[in-house]
Amino acid sequence: MENINSCTTLNNGVKMPWLGFGTYKIEDGSTVTESVKEALRIGYRHIDTASLYNNEEGIGIALKESGIERKEIFLVSKVWNSDQGYEKTLNAFETSLKKLQTDYLDLYLIHWPQLLNKETWRALEKLYKEGRVRAIGVCNFKESHLRDLMEDAEIPPMVNQVEFHPYLIQNDLLDFCKDNNIQLEAWSPLMRGNILKVDLLQELAKKYGKTVSQIVLRWDLQKGIVTIPKSTTPARIKENTDIFDFELSEEDMDKIQQLDQGLRFGKDPDNVYANPDIFNK
Ligand SMILES: NC(=O)c1ccc[n+]([C@@H]2O[C@H](COP(=O)([O-])OP(=O)(O)OC[C@H]3O[C@@H](n4cnc5c(N)ncnc54)[C@H](OP(=O)(O)O)[C@@H]3O)[C@@H](O)[C@H]2O)c1
Repeated sequence: MENINSCTTLNNGVKMPWLGFGTYKIEDGSTVTESVKEALRIGYRHIDTASLYNNEEGIGIALKESGIERKEIFLVSKVWNSDQGYEKTLNAFETSLKKLQTDYLDLYLIHWPQLLNKETWRALEKLYKEGRVRAIGVCNFKESHLRDLMEDAEIPPMVNQVEFHPYLIQNDLLDFCKDNNIQLEAWSPLMRGNILKVDLLQELAKKYGKTVSQIVLRWDLQKGIVTIPKSTTPARIKENTDIFDFELSEEDMDKIQQLDQGLRFGKDPDNVYANPDIFNK
């Protein structure tokens, strides 16, 4: 892990950059286009979006206007809950591609565990076999959801993107994913900005001459987790990349571990599974 281009190798051999650029809640239009162009200019080559974020069109424009070759960028999108099921997923995939102005995705993910996961997964397997997507995976899957999916899957998931930060350190899930060659990826790695309030992280930032955000993103990398901070602030977009020139000691890694409270800023996947309409309420 030497620089922003450093990659993990997924279980099918595809390379995925350890650091990506998150785009949840970045408004479509010029806001998302300018943010993604800035991220690409700084050197990010991994962009995370979802049909839910409603900003795929602006990202498509950013990719084109950046002038960077499509094959240099690792582009991720997700199938939303209401699009789950075999045919609906295939249609949702085409819509995402059109909006993103591309003819393939590097990674396509199921956004939340749902009853229809197995049919959705069959659609992802078809897209993968046809070469329309270079890797397939899931988000917000607990071990039980992964076990259930893998029971019938022809192709095992390559990635599981879950909420993961110093207040929600899911080490058991991380171990399960490592044992099964599934790359874990952290969403809301900065606790949606709340990491700045954590005293220990402030102390470590001073000790290493880094910022709180850099400490946490570095901690992700050292745990073997892909991380995708979001920012629309150019200085922070850059700040979040300066994490490849220092190393947290084992002792400090252990101290961060003690911050775990099992606290979620997002929804609990089991709740979403049991109440599919939870996002409409
Ligand atoms: N699969 C899923 O279900 C799921 C769910 C949620 C998120 N995600 C993905 O994960 C990405 C990241 O998660 P997130 O957007 O929820 O939260 P996040 O990246 O943890 O935090 C984003 C917040 O932190 C602030 N921030 C960014 N860099 C900072 C820095 N260096 N110092 C201080 N504050 C900083 C941002 O402010 P400014 O923008 O104002 O700079 C923004 O308010 C998303 O964008 C999305 O791509 C996936």
